[in-house]
Amino acid sequence: MSVIGATGAPASEKVVPLLRGQALRLAYGPDRVVVDGLDLELPPGKVTAVIGANGSGKSTVLRALARLLRPVDGQVLLDGRDIHQMRTRDVARQLGLLPQAPVSPDGITVRDLVRRGRTPHTSLWRQWSDADEAALLAALAATDLTELADDPVDALSGGQRQRAWLALVIAQETPLLLLDEPTTFLDIAHQVDVLELVRALNRDAGRTVVMVLHDLNQACRFADHLVALRGGRIVTAGPPAAVVTTELVRTVFDLDAMIVPDPVGGTPMVVPIGRAK
Ligand SMILES: Nc1ncnc2c1ncn2[C@@H]1O[C@H](COP(=O)(O)OP(=O)(O)OP(=O)(O)O)[C@@H](O)[C@H]1O
Ligand SMILES: [Mg+2]
Repeated sequence: MSVIGATGAPASEKVVPLLRGQALRLAYGPDRVVVDGLDLELPPGKVTAVIGANGSGKSTVLRALARLLRPVDGQVLLDGRDIHQMRTRDVARQLGLLPQAPVSPDGITVRDLVRRGRTPHTSLWRQWSDADEAALLAALAATDLTELADDPVDALSGGQRQRAWLALVIAQETPLLLLDEPTTFLDIAHQVDVLELVRALNRDAGRTVVMVLHDLNQACRFADHLVALRGGRIVTAGPPAAVVTTELVRTVFDLDAMIVPDPVGGTPMVVPIGRAK
């Protein structure tokens, strides 16, 4: 599947922006510090999966990286610039976010939702162009939504709705993609479609992808780099084959498991045994 951006330059000409968090302290009010002293560098041009138990801070970190949550302390740097010093539009041209629980405007159609992905590229002076239309159609096709383009988002199933939001992010054609649980709500075939699409987005234009995944086996198969969180701290980070061990699964999930080679690609496969005692 080729999903190179309609307006995107070939990968060789593209400079992949570097996104990093430095000494991040993230909180919801003074008494609810979720992350403290977190340093995180996302390998440019690679697919990173963030894993961790419910409540470990994955969405909080992603929202901070996407400039939706202002750190109490520390900085998020995009190519060395503090993301909070940048204009919203400049950030939105570099970075697209699929939130964990997006809310769509009442009655909006799939096409109009996905069109919004082009907002950072259009202006009073630069109206909707052929390139915008091409990006819209490509995003609909890539997420298998062409047939549903004129349906209201409210009338879609949970999985179709999730794909519509993903299409919006794809239409944005940013070199950086942050996806919070892109496969939740999807049936297993559509999970694989989305993960293959993510790999294609990475391969075709060298995009950097960061995604939160709950399925460890999919994370190992589709990501180049894993970041494992527990209690708002990074337990370990690195290539799946190097970091996924029985100890890691126990530390991160309080779960005893066997790690065997995935019969398809040889990547680590986690077979749960039971709750760690
Ligand atoms: N808006 C909020 N107000 C107060 N506390 C919050 C808010 N959002 C998240 N939290 C708290 O921050 C902690 C981390 O939440 P976060 O959503 O980052 O976890 P997560 O790892 O994404 O979990 P999940 O796998 O369930 O999506 C949790 O303890 C949660 O209760
Ligand atoms: Mg979350």
